[in-house]
Amino acid sequence: MVHVSSGIDLFDDAVLADPYPTYARLRELGAVVRLDAHGVWALPRHAGVADALRDPITYSSERALALTDEVNERVLTDTVVGTDGAAHVRLRRVLSRQLAPRALKSLTAGIHAHARALVDALPSGEVFDGVADLAAPFVSGTVMRLMGLPDRDRARLLDLADATFDTFGPDSARTRAAFPRAEEMFAYLDRFAARGRVAPDSWLGAIHAAADRGDIDESQAVPLMLSYTVAGMDTTIHAVTTALHLLAGHPAQWRLVRERAVPGDAVFAEALRMEAPIQWFGRRAGRDIRIGDTVVPAGEQLLLLYGSAGRDRAKWGPTADTFDVTRPDSRDHLALGLGVHQCAGNHLAVLELDAVLTALGARFHTLAAAPDRAPTRRVHNILRGLHTLPLVAA
Ligand code: HEM
Repeated sequence: MVHVSSGIDLFDDAVLADPYPTYARLRELGAVVRLDAHGVWALPRHAGVADALRDPITYSSERALALTDEVNERVLTDTVVGTDGAAHVRLRRVLSRQLAPRALKSLTAGIHAHARALVDALPSGEVFDGVADLAAPFVSGTVMRLMGLPDRDRARLLDLADATFDTFGPDSARTRAAFPRAEEMFAYLDRFAARGRVAPDSWLGAIHAAADRGDIDESQAVPLMLSYTVAGMDTTIHAVTTALHLLAGHPAQWRLVRERAVPGDAVFAEALRMEAPIQWFGRRAGRDIRIGDTVVPAGEQLLLLYGSAGRDRAKWGPTADTFDVTRPDSRDHLALGLGVHQCAGNHLAVLELDAVLTALGARFHTLAAAPDRAPTRRVHNILRGLHTLPLVAA
């Protein structure tokens, strides 16, 4: 049986800093490409990633998300994102009530007020940091409050969350350097998110209540908490800062946003298509999978390259690399997954971006990159986002 293989190292610093030329090469090479450096199969095209997401039996999430067995076992066991079938349904049900649009309705006014307060504190006509002064305090503050954790732990938890995601990479110095802080995340939750320390009506309180009712096992409570502490923070911070970065570079599109000529969810979708905050997740072949002329043997691991799918010209046409909030089909992006594992927090994430854009648009006419101060990127195994984003609004 034929297969295409490549020596590309997806985790080389230069590739992580700008993965798009490498993704283009992989998409050209084929629908599925064996990555010799990592011993896995890459799915770089939009159609292939979508097919995999629609078939969670063939493309299993168990022991599959991260590139090392150690992390799949120690970090991802009993998480909602790392389980299949009935076990997955049982875990996901515990989150659904908190994250459903109906629950978010009662939070909407408070979330908008929070965004307004942060935007009102920004200087007009002077440089501010879109990450440190706006997206990070806004998103992490929102999620900490809903989880029932003290605001003073915000920066610490953000650091631990970023490291937990970094452990998903291949066995490397970067991945190993993240282990101690991922372990600290578990220790933190064990201690500070224990029964009696979080309010019963908070998100984490609801997880304890589910364990009390027997809906989940007691040992599943902390892994389930990662659904909020890890999945709900950097992802959305990166989505917000990416959207601001792109809008600051496209004044005509910023005007459309400020005038509310395009809905917030269209801006969200287009930003996610351009720069998926989670660039990839793994899956494991539940049986031999035939893709074109290639058979991926049962048990092998595949990487769903969400970041590559967002730039696939076969799906998006010749303007795939161009930011356009009026693109009619941006919502077909795969940066939130699709199917049974589709992001449980997507409604909250849209609401958060909309609140920031509404507050910025109400106060400022212009939004631009700060002159002479380029944004910086954090090189990360799986997340794509900005470390700093100097902006000027007036
Ligand atoms: C723009 C921000 C976000 C992005 C880009 C994002 C991305 C993703 C992706 C790609 C998946 C699919 C995983 C898979 O197919 O294996 C996912 C699942 C998930 N996300 Fe998000 N996410 C975001 C925001 C959030 C927020 C705010 C929360 C919670 C507060 C959250 C909680 C979850 C959970 C619990 C899952 C697992 C769902 C399941 O396996 O059934 N996410 N997210």
